[in-house]
Amino acid sequence: MVDNMPKESAKTHRHPRVAVVWSVLSAEIERFAAGRGATMRILDVGGGSGGFAVPLAELGHDVTVVEPSADALASLRRRAADAGVTDRVTAVQADADELPDVAEPGSADLVLCHSVLEMVDYPDIALDALAKVCAPGGAVSVLVANRIAAVLAKALSGQFTTALDLLHHVDGVAEGRDTIKRRFETATLTALVGGSGLVTEQVHGVGVVGDLIQNPETAGGEALREFELATASRVPFRDMATNIHLLARKPMR
Ligand SMILES: C[S@@+](CC[C@H](N)C(=O)[O-])C[C@H]1O[C@@H](n2cnc3c(N)ncnc32)[C@H](O)[C@@H]1O
Repeated sequence: MVDNMPKESAKTHRHPRVAVVWSVLSAEIERFAAGRGATMRILDVGGGSGGFAVPLAELGHDVTVVEPSADALASLRRRAADAGVTDRVTAVQADADELPDVAEPGSADLVLCHSVLEMVDYPDIALDALAKVCAPGGAVSVLVANRIAAVLAKALSGQFTTALDLLHHVDGVAEGRDTIKRRFETATLTALVGGSGLVTEQVHGVGVVGDLIQNPETAGGEALREFELATASRVPFRDMATNIHLLARKPMR
């Protein structure tokens, strides 16, 4: 894995929670630089306040954030200004369903959709839209909540009824008690992504144990980061992580 973190945000992005995702994105950036150039056109769908968008702009890329929340976009603009990258960050208020209206087909070299497919009405339609805006040969980075991790977390805290609800529910949620519409599993996510014509290249677990241990910082931040990086692609660790990260490519034709 490549260790190419944004300078100003290096500390934040070495955090065990996001280290695996940054490692995959950094490798994709290097791949692009080797073949096509230094500046990527990046589209961050549901990009929130720019936790990924701003560091990517800091690395010199042109990032468009498509985000329905006005508050999140206001924070994004402040964050971009603080980082001195206002000219490389474009904020668009829209949700994933409106993507075809706000982004040209094939206009992004890298499309991010992190922690959003859990919330949309139709993840298959959202993925079709992500695939459409991605340029041929470009990549789509998807991060989603993992049902298996949620079941384990509830069981380990003694909440077996909720654990079984999550295990058996068709969408992996506790009906009426969950803030999200669905959770995924590695196989279902990969199938869904494939249905949009994208080819899955990498699957990683994000947060294999980070959310299960008390006080992960005091437990040893750097050691935990190393552990997460080492286990992220190893089954069965990968498939029990809090989140699943998938990098898929749009075929050239
Ligand atoms: C958990 S946050 C993740 C933010 C960012 N992607 C990140 O990883 O830091 C989820 C974001 O998805 C946005 N969102 C919710 N529903 C959405 C939809 N239907 N289409 C696009 N974004 C949506 C929310 O406003 C929020 O900013």
